[in-house]
This record gives sequence, structure tokens and C-alpha cells, in this order.
Amino acid sequence: MLYPKFVYPILSLFDPEKMHILALKRLARAQEHPGFFRLQEKVFGFESPRLEVKLLGQVFKSPLGLAAGFSKGLAFESLMGFGFAFGEQGTIVPSPQEGNPLPRLHRLYRDRSLINWMGFPDEGVGPAKEASERLGKNRGYVLALNLGANKASVELGRASEDYVRLIVEFCEYADFIVINVSSPNTARLRELQGREALAELLFQVLATLDRLGTTKKVLIKIAPYPDLSWDQIDKVMDVSLAYGVDGFVATNTTLQRPLWLKSRNRNQRGGLSGRGLKLYSLKTVRYLSERLQGKVPIIAVGGIFTWGDLLEYALLGASLGESYTGFVYQGPFMVKDLKRGLDKMLEMEGIASFQEIVGSKDRYLYEKYVLGDK
Ligand SMILES: Cc1cc2nc3c(=O)[nH]c(=O)nc-3n(C[C@H](O)[C@H](O)[C@H](O)COP(=O)(O)O)c2cc1C
Repeated sequence: MLYPKFVYPILSLFDPEKMHILALKRLARAQEHPGFFRLQEKVFGFESPRLEVKLLGQVFKSPLGLAAGFSKGLAFESLMGFGFAFGEQGTIVPSPQEGNPLPRLHRLYRDRSLINWMGFPDEGVGPAKEASERLGKNRGYVLALNLGANKASVELGRASEDYVRLIVEFCEYADFIVINVSSPNTARLRELQGREALAELLFQVLATLDRLGTTKKVLIKIAPYPDLSWDQIDKVMDVSLAYGVDGFVATNTTLQRPLWLKSRNRNQRGGLSGRGLKLYSLKTVRYLSERLQGKVPIIAVGGIFTWGDLLEYALLGASLGESYTGFVYQGPFMVKDLKRGLDKMLEMEGIASFQEIVGSKDRYLYEKYVLGDK
């Protein structure tokens, strides 16, 4: 309560992107101190076998992860130390690029949302690889690498080559791979979600994995409805399943602006995340889950702030959830609070494992805890 009510309003007086970088740099420095991770574990640690999720050939200590874009590698370990069971490092692109002009990140504080038009500012393969190497193989969390394409490659119609290169460079470091074809901030990137473009991309990606002789799982991160129509989402699903994709991350940010947004920044350019996105992501997850019928898992992302939010997604069929904007506004205790709340509910209801409720659409739980949470 202290952070969202008193600390965040002060931090929000400063430029959001500068504050983000500063916070990561401070964390990166702090994590060099011996004992830092032990202290983090003491303050933010919470584990329960009820929360464990077995999926994608991995064991996730809980169902909550850190969404892509938060860190390309900087301070990644200490971000995980706030209690996330997994995280997506990236989006990584092959060559260094600056991203879109500043300012490109805006707070919508009253709406608990953000609008970003980052456009993958990144230092490219070299630094990302150093970061992945530093993270090592013996981790207490599951590491996903989120891969993208350089602006110039997308413009030239050569995006597939970027994804293939990144798979070759990074495959060994990742526990699973997320192919990001849904950022709204690189012109024409989202066109890779079209039937032919996606088929061509997946053919290349999966052929590369075959060639490397790896069984690493590959997920596709998609845009929400109505940025994509239901028909377009059907096509993404059909092509992905035909090519043996292992799951979906739903969703990226939206270009929609719900009418209820109050903040001054609501008409800034870019993708909306947080509370303003949640309904679009929820609808997308529900649709995917109904169509997929459990064939492959869904990782939900979009406006997860509390355990009630995660429960809502799980009831609709998401096996795991991720957060970005919720973590920004709720602060460092968000993950622990969420896990503790979820675990307590499962215990009270006599449910042995979070995995039991995934896709159950349990009305009782929904009315008592999701509606009750609001
Ligand atoms: C500032 C910012 C940068 C982001 N960068 C990326 C990115 O590089 N790659 C990506 O796949 N998603 C990126 N995202 C999208 C998030 O991963 C997530 O899908 C989205 O914000 C919805 O989740 P949230 O409501 O919990 O924030 C970014 C989001 C924000 C706010």
C-alpha cells in the first residue's frame, strides 16, 4: 500500500523512461553486493507447492512472470528476485538501434495504464549475449528470450532473417523462446501475423531449430482483439498449430483507447498497457482458449495487478500470467502480495494446485473472488 499510494506519486514527477533506466541501473549496482540476493529472498520470498506450474517442459515456482520490455538483461536477476517465477528478456533485435524519438513512454496514472512507443531501442546481439551469459544456466527462475526484428529488416521485408539469426545466437540460453510479431511500435511488424508472412516466418524458425537439433519450445506473442480481428486471430492460430508452435503469449499492447480513460496522456502515440488494456487481452485469451481446447498453453499478459486479475485469466484458460504495468504501479511487493493472496484463496477453497483451476470457468470462484475483488 505504501508504494502505490505514497512512493509512486513522487516518482511519477520525473520522466518515466529516465526513471526506469535509473531504477534498473541502481538495481544492477545493488546486486553486485554480496548478500543482496539473500536479502531480497528474505524480504520478497514466498513459495508454496500449490502455486507450482509444470508446463513447456519446465517447473515454474508460481504462475507469475515479468513481461517483455522491462529489461533486455540489465538487472534481470534482481528483477526476478522480487519473486517472479519467470521472465522474458528482450525484445532482442540483431543490430543496435535507437528506437523511436523521445518522449516515447507516458504514464496514465489515474487509469493505471502506460502508453509506449519505444520501437525496440536495443544494443543488439553483443550486449544481450553478455547478459544471457551472465544469467547462466543455474537459475531459480525460468528464462524466456523474446526475439524481434530490426526496423530496417522489417522495412526491407527481411524480418525472418533476423529471427533466424537470433535463434541461432540465443537458443542455448533460453528455457523457451517467444517470437514477438505484435509490437505496434515498429511499422509493419504486425503484418507478420498475416497468414502467408507468419507461415514463412515459422517455417524458417522451426527449420532452424531442427537444424540446431534442439527441442526448445517456441511461443508466439500476439496482438489483442480488436487490433487483430477474430478472423485474423483464427489464421494466426491455424498457421501456428500447423507449424507446431508450442503456445501463445496474449497479448501485446493495444492501439485502442477505451472511452473511460481520463488521463491527460490518453491520446499519446503508441501501445496502451495496464488497466486500459485488460479487457482486450481478456477477450483475446478467452477466444484463444475456446478455440485451442488445451492443445497448447496460453500465457496471459495485460493488466495483471492483483491475484484476482490472474485468477480471472486462469479461469478463462491461461496457464501462466505476466505483468509489466502492474509491477510499475504496485511496486516491489506486488509479486509477493499476489502469490500470497492466490495461495491463501486456494488453501481456503481446498484446491490443491493452481493448475486445477486453469480453464475451469468456475462460476463460484469467479463471483466470489474476481467480482468480489473489484
Ligand atoms: C514500456 C514498455 C515496453 C515494452 N516493450 C516490449 C517489448 O520490447 N517486447 C514485447 O514483446 N512487449 C513489450 N511490451 C509489452 C509488454 O510485454 C506487455 O505485453 C504489455 O505491456 C501488457 O502487459 P501489462 O498490462 O502488464 O503491462 C512493453 C510494454 C511497455 C509498457
